[in-house]
Amino acid sequence: MGFKVGLLGLGTVGTGVGKILQSPEGRHPLLQAVELARVGVRSLDKPRDLELPSHTLTTDLAAIVSDPDVDIVIEVIGGLEPARTLILDAIAHGKHVVTANKAVIARFGDEIFTAANQAGVYVMLEAAVAGGIPVIQPLKESLGANRIHAMMGILNGTTNYILTKMQSGGDFDDILAEAQALGYAEADPTADVDGFDAGDKIAILTSLAFGGRVKLDQVHREGIRQVSAADIAYAQKLGFVIKLLAIAKLPPNNNNNQVEVRVHPTLVPEEHPLASVNDAFNAILIEADPLGQVMFFGPGAGAGPTASAVVSDTINIVALLKTGLTAANPDSETIHPLLACSHN
Ligand code: HSE
Repeated sequence: MGFKVGLLGLGTVGTGVGKILQSPEGRHPLLQAVELARVGVRSLDKPRDLELPSHTLTTDLAAIVSDPDVDIVIEVIGGLEPARTLILDAIAHGKHVVTANKAVIARFGDEIFTAANQAGVYVMLEAAVAGGIPVIQPLKESLGANRIHAMMGILNGTTNYILTKMQSGGDFDDILAEAQALGYAEADPTADVDGFDAGDKIAILTSLAFGGRVKLDQVHREGIRQVSAADIAYAQKLGFVIKLLAIAKLPPNNNNNQVEVRVHPTLVPEEHPLASVNDAFNAILIEADPLGQVMFFGPGAGAGPTASAVVSDTINIVALLKTGLTAANPDSETIHPLLACSHN
């Protein structure tokens, strides 16, 4: 049985996804059953780094999410709209969805998962947090036996790239331009530099790890604009590096089920495992009981890593469909509903 994919977006990540789907040899055998059937783009005339039959391309993205032949919709256009509406329309038409869209999931995850559970379809979002690093699936499944106490991570590749290069004396604006050229930065790099992107990602991880929903206005957030070359040099003299950390933790003696969630530049001791996470790499350190500490590390941004997560989610959906199980996504009903969120 074959599975037809409708791909929304053919930018950096979409092109990476297309390339993997077009070369299944040597990858997971289920990829052989996946066909890139429709591709939605903004303009038909733009030169592309992917060979596609012309009938595959369309500028009518709404037609893809309602196409009866499409089984799985992959959304990699980013931004809030029309991405949110297209995801919800795809679900309403009974399509399974893979998305890399942290902004939409952090704001509308509840609505999307509730709709998906009602429609009996899967929504997968591994690529939305930490690019190619598998962390969503472990939080949903492989760490399920654990109580999680804390997570801290470097979840934004652009700012980590900037902070790393500033250590060797680079200029902020020049390094940001490099990060954009390498395909790490958001279309509006304010989302990276001011910590919005990391805030969205830690909100998603917090919901999965601790349950409940995180309101983004309850996430304490500071970006890296105020970090100067002098700050970095002084930190180095004292044995620290400065990292933009995203942190979620249960406070000590937590008795009202609240989780602290925050994003801010942090002095990290040089010997700490997160201190050596450089360039655009991401990492997430999780403290869990009874497991103890586990750290996920890898490429957190860019075409290849993000496409890796997107296509792996697609394969997971195909595998689940082959089992014939009813789709179940995380939502406020199925995970601990009592946790609220705060910061100090
Ligand atoms: N702009 C993001 C980053 C891309 O720099 O990490 C991956 O979400």
